[in-house]
Amino acid sequence: MDGNGRWARKRALPRHVGHRSGVKSVREIVETAAKRGVKYLTLFAFSSENFKRPRDEVSMLMALFLESLQREVEELHKNNVRLRCVGARDRLNLALTEKISAAEALTADNDGLTLVLAVAYGGRWDIVNSTRRIAERVAAGELDPDDIDETTVESGLELRDLPDPDLLIRTGGEKRISNFLLWNLAYSEMWFTDVLWPDFRQRDFDDALEFFGKRQRRFGSTPEQLEAVKC
Ligand code: FPP
Repeated sequence: MDGNGRWARKRALPRHVGHRSGVKSVREIVETAAKRGVKYLTLFAFSSENFKRPRDEVSMLMALFLESLQREVEELHKNNVRLRCVGARDRLNLALTEKISAAEALTADNDGLTLVLAVAYGGRWDIVNSTRRIAERVAAGELDPDDIDETTVESGLELRDLPDPDLLIRTGGEKRISNFLLWNLAYSEMWFTDVLWPDFRQRDFDDALEFFGKRQRRFGSTPEQLEAVKC
């Protein structure tokens, strides 16, 4: 969800106004995703590296996450949304981690859209954690290094129980992954748009879905092989 700061700067407003406006896009895109039958939506709200930002901005964002959860959780629950958070919880304050745990518990049995918020998350951090778990199992004699495969690595990742993303959307004009779901995005289609996150609305999301609908997903096969499977 990139571009909040630039959205504010274009209007000669402080950055926090951009972040607040970004919440409106979050609401609209969550609603749209649910309406369109998307089963999993992961929002990159705050990266491991975003802690390098000025202390005021970090505190403001943490307060905004807490406030948004407090305001929206009941509504999400009513709409059968299951909420999950991924990231380094030990880097978040207690009020926020408690609210996250309560929201996850409240919505755990919902079977509509699964909304994943990535907060204090980094793709490298995720892979390092998985690697550490593997090393511990090897050291304890529970796992033979020869048996380590992709499933072993996946089983230690934050999103181990969710399918890999089909589509990555990045707003704000940059064309990079910025340490998002590095492992999970291996075969994702990618949609980059110049639209700044606070301007990103239903029609923009639908443009991304239309692009996705036209992609032929080959996962390493040839087009001819895929045609043969269809016949
Ligand atoms: C990146 O834009 C955005 C963020 C680091 C924060 C994203 C947060 C929100 C959209 C607020 C609401 C989120 C939830 C989950 C309730 P930037 O600040 O890097 O923008 P810039 O590149 O234009 O400076």
